[in-house]
Amino acid sequence: MKNLFANRVLNNDTSDLNEIFKNSANPENISFAGGFPDNRLFPDHDLKTAYQNAISQDGQAIFQYASTQGLPALRQKLANRMATCAGVHVDADNVMLTQGGQQAIDLVAKLLLNRGDAMAVEGPTYMGALAAFDTYEPTYYEIPVDQDGMDVHYLKNTLKAHPEIKLIYTVPDFHNPTGTTMSLRRRQALVALANQYDVIILEDSPYRDLRYSGKNLPAIKHFDTEGRVIFISSFSKILSPALRTGWLVADDEIMTELIGLKSAIDVQSPNVTLAAINSYLDHHDIDHHIANINAAYRVKRDAMLNALDRYFPASVTYTRPAGGFFIWVSLPQGIDAQQLLRDVVLPQAHVAYVPASCQFASRQVTNGFRLNFTSLDPITITTGVKRLGAILHNVTTNTTVKVGAQL
Ligand SMILES: Cc1ncc(COP(=O)(O)O)c(C=O)c1O
Repeated sequence: MKNLFANRVLNNDTSDLNEIFKNSANPENISFAGGFPDNRLFPDHDLKTAYQNAISQDGQAIFQYASTQGLPALRQKLANRMATCAGVHVDADNVMLTQGGQQAIDLVAKLLLNRGDAMAVEGPTYMGALAAFDTYEPTYYEIPVDQDGMDVHYLKNTLKAHPEIKLIYTVPDFHNPTGTTMSLRRRQALVALANQYDVIILEDSPYRDLRYSGKNLPAIKHFDTEGRVIFISSFSKILSPALRTGWLVADDEIMTELIGLKSAIDVQSPNVTLAAINSYLDHHDIDHHIANINAAYRVKRDAMLNALDRYFPASVTYTRPAGGFFIWVSLPQGIDAQQLLRDVVLPQAHVAYVPASCQFASRQVTNGFRLNFTSLDPITITTGVKRLGAILHNVTTNTTVKVGAQL
């Protein structure tokens, strides 16, 4: 039947990734693969009350169709929060509620990308974004990332060489998958480049509030002078991913088109959930909740970094994120993290991670992987890193473990 399928799905081979996540669901394995919050940190009691309030307060109207852009009261709260937490001053009309940040990415891709259109992405980048972009069949230009985020000098040269680039996708705060944060100067430089080369920036920032040390920087959208930055974030990492609620901030011209596109996809996000989130924010201090989860995630981050310092060989390097969910591990050249996972790490150490290749648009980089530290407890984190470290010692000294042709 595949002959009937569109190219956009035929080009997408997610079988390796599906296999990784299937293995990581196996309770015998310690999985650092998923980007999951800790179940125990969900404010479940408060959310139950919030749903109850939402259903009982608004009478029958809560069960009716509502606006595509989403509940005005919640959009107003988010507009206020954008000003205080991100330095972005917008009206509620410039905020749209979406089904997670994921839908917001898809909407922006749908707005901008014809087949073959050029866009710039970080290398590595959030694999869910690549999955969304892939369906529009763009031409990717990959921009390296270092400890200060996207390399804007490299970006500048890429834009010079390919002025047809329309869109730059970036995760500036506690980047998925490297955990790094874009510096202030690069944020400013990025906007200047977008203005110069007539490009739209998609700023995807679901980890922004999850900072464990240091101070937050203004969003890239703060520096936007021409309405060409679209900001997106989400309640998934700060409240619960099951709410499937994110938000998008855009200027009028872009917002009008995005409302039309969302209406064609799902008419609106579920109003009961939006009303529940609004009620939660009316009755609870979300910043207090975020401070609590940050305290717990800081301990987990530190547990993972301590274990990496202790158990990983010196030839293996890793990032030291100030927040977010992830640490990126770089292996010596020639080691294929995907083969290593399949042939050695899963069967022998019973540990899972996300290998580099599926996190690069080019799929060309193989010697790295992403570790998540938020979903497990510190003891399990330490055990998993120790087991992984033992394998890496073997592989990097190339004595007992053979992992295919590249070693
Ligand atoms: C960078 C980034 N953007 C967007 C998302 C999508 O999240 P959600 O759709 O749950 O809001 C994720 C989830 O892991 C992410 O890491």
